[in-house]
Amino acid sequence: MPTIEINSQNGKDFSGDVLIVPVFSGRERHRLPLAISKVARQVMDEGDFHADPMEIVPLHHPNGVKDSRWMMLVGLGDEETVTLNKIRKAVGAAVRNAVKKGWKQVGVIAPATSALEHDVIQCAVLEGALLADYDFSKFKGKPAPRRLDSVEIFTNGDDTRKARRRQPLVEAGVVACHRVRDLVNTPPGELHPESFAELAQKLARQHKLGCEVLEGEALLKGGFNSLLAVAQGSARGPRVVKLDYKPKEKAKRHVVLVGKGVCFDSGGLSLKDASGMETMKDDMAGAAIVLATLAACAELQVPVQVTGLMGLVENMPSGTSYKPGDVLRSRSGKTIEVLNTDAEGRLVLADLLHWACELEPDHVVDLATLTGACMVALGDGVSGVFGTDQRLVERLLDAGATAGEHLWQMPLVEEYREGLQSHVADLKNISGVRWGGAITAALFLKEFVKPGVSWAHVDLSGAWSGRERDFRTPGGSGEGPRWLLEWLQV
Ligand code: BES
Ligand code: ZN
Ligand code: ZN
Repeated sequence: MPTIEINSQNGKDFSGDVLIVPVFSGRERHRLPLAISKVARQVMDEGDFHADPMEIVPLHHPNGVKDSRWMMLVGLGDEETVTLNKIRKAVGAAVRNAVKKGWKQVGVIAPATSALEHDVIQCAVLEGALLADYDFSKFKGKPAPRRLDSVEIFTNGDDTRKARRRQPLVEAGVVACHRVRDLVNTPPGELHPESFAELAQKLARQHKLGCEVLEGEALLKGGFNSLLAVAQGSARGPRVVKLDYKPKEKAKRHVVLVGKGVCFDSGGLSLKDASGMETMKDDMAGAAIVLATLAACAELQVPVQVTGLMGLVENMPSGTSYKPGDVLRSRSGKTIEVLNTDAEGRLVLADLLHWACELEPDHVVDLATLTGACMVALGDGVSGVFGTDQRLVERLLDAGATAGEHLWQMPLVEEYREGLQSHVADLKNISGVRWGGAITAALFLKEFVKPGVSWAHVDLSGAWSGRERDFRTPGGSGEGPRWLLEWLQV
């Protein structure tokens, strides 16, 4: 984490590599120091900059800032339609630019607009900057992490106390986001069930979380047959990790988070093709989110009891693989006919959801890169939310909106349940109908949730993107912990 300072100066005396100046597209620029606003006006008048959202113009040794090597104008678009997320993204896009150039000392002038409170703007600026300060160069021949040394936020006399009070929350969310990105980006040869479980244990020790790792016999005894079937084709054994966080005071409620942790999804005997497998190291994003969120809960001492269940397996083809046609007796006792070994995530989650419901929680939320169908529906920038408790779903959607991570509700269409009817078992793991794959997958999961339990399922279509976007680097997006923390805090 770079050093962070939120101060009441106006930025013209900033000394460092680059001063980032967010600008609205209208004429009004009175909030900027006069000399800086003059520069901005000139660039705009000459038609070189329109202050469109995330439009960037770097200026070398410009007038108006004597000790900053660069000034970077970044567009916020129209002031009337600005949102916190537009501010986060604009600042983030500018900081990505700076980070890629190797600039280390960054200043940002917090924009001001009457529609939004100063403190939330300041936090959005800080968050955008810190989220952009990421780099995954560990596996380069010459690792040269490009990261910031310092971030200074200028507020031009506005009150900064509230923002400083929220700073730990912003920082914990960013650390968790970066943790998820690191885990998702790590090659599957390095991050497999065993090493992932060890990492979880280490992090749990550091954060004083309860941590239990189940493997081998313990999984058999525990009846995790559906999860074990997925794992049985791999040379690496599975792990189930249970993490526990309890607040010091009496907890307001108990939440269980369940994460799909398929460290690599080759499809198994229903093998994926080459391009389908390219990104399948990301199939453990759900478990990564669970781990990073629990660490952040401890860091922030959230008032809610949170249990994390991570199902860590590899889905591989081999002589010991489970096969299409196999019938599995899941932990719940329900039997499952496997018709496609690539629909493995739901088999891993089935046993964990059943366990989760035994823990008598107020809410169960599972997180899983479950279907390609959800990505077809929503793209790689929005995750789908299904649930049996509309109030819970709405709280999650609100949390997503506040955090600026897109969630969209998808329907549990009961009619589609008949597609999961099997002739030989209680249900089959794929639907006989081609369409609506994200919905049938969610309906499958619902079969393992105790009736009456408040449950939501998040199909993480936003976990990975091949493109660089605003403050996000290509690869793991790190989305998840920030909206979960937003929800868990209140
Ligand atoms: N991990 C995949 C889902 C996935 C695929 C997520 C591509 C993101 C991008 C999951 O295990 C899977 O393979 N699902 C199948 C289900 C099908 C066999 C019913 C899918 O979506 O194709
Ligand atoms: Zn699969
Ligand atoms: Zn999968």
